[in-house]
Amino acid sequence: MGKIYAVTSGKGGVGKSTVSVGLATAFANMGQTVLLVDMDEGLRCLDVMLGIEEKVVFDLSDILSGKELSDGIYTVDSVPNLHLVPAPAKLGMIDAYLFTGFITEAQRLFDTVIFDFPAGIDFSLYTCMPKDTLFLTVAFPDPVTIRDASVVSQSLDEIGVNSRLILNAFDYKLTKKRLFKNIDDIIDTAGLQLLGIVPASEELKLLSVKHKLKPKGNAMKALCRIAKRLMGEKILLPKLKKI
Ligand SMILES: Nc1ncnc2c1ncn2[C@@H]1O[C@H](COP(=O)(O)OP(=O)(O)OP(=O)(O)O)[C@@H](O)[C@H]1O
Ligand SMILES: [Mg+2]
Repeated sequence: MGKIYAVTSGKGGVGKSTVSVGLATAFANMGQTVLLVDMDEGLRCLDVMLGIEEKVVFDLSDILSGKELSDGIYTVDSVPNLHLVPAPAKLGMIDAYLFTGFITEAQRLFDTVIFDFPAGIDFSLYTCMPKDTLFLTVAFPDPVTIRDASVVSQSLDEIGVNSRLILNAFDYKLTKKRLFKNIDDIIDTAGLQLLGIVPASEELKLLSVKHKLKPKGNAMKALCRIAKRLMGEKILLPKLKKI
């Protein structure tokens, strides 16, 4: 059975979709078969980020309403082993009961399944996720998004699910100037165990134009460290100025 990850955040625009694509690419580059599921109904973006919007005909809502799973799963040309289920184009199309069946089937077919949720908390869908799902809460290293991440973390605690923090768009120079809190403060405020740190990078900014990441770039290195930790490897956090 494949591993399931659910990517969430309190505040919007903190890089959930970017991190989801990056992490999925890291797993795929390690030889895993990976399914990315865009959960942002009405505002889907992963098809554009991955450069396959032209070929999308069916989406998650079609699969839930009876289309063959294979009809709504698209291969990603730029990344071998990576597949995408696009989000429904309209709101309110994800039925919780049918969604649970879809997750079971996805988990049977893929080594890793990553759900990219919209910002905020959606208990009705979170509670559909299998018990061993690991929630990955993404935040920028600033007080506002970290406080929102802590709200998400408390809500996830209440429904008894496991979650970890991914700090995105980390900029060492800003941290050094103390414009942001230090990492210990961030972890304390978020109330979440830190899984990894992704740098602020032009490459990630341009992901929706270039559709892939350089295997040896800093962004990919950071995402690979996170993927390896998720696979159980003990990978230490590098010195902050090297992130
Ligand atoms: N590490 C990063 N470095 C530079 N730019 C980034 C980074 N992460 C994300 N971005 C940029 O930030 C913007 C928002 O990213 P993204 O769409 O992934 O956020 P999101 O959390 O999924 O948003 P939403 O809440 O709307 O779903 C995009 O323009 C993206 O290119
Ligand atoms: Mg998004």
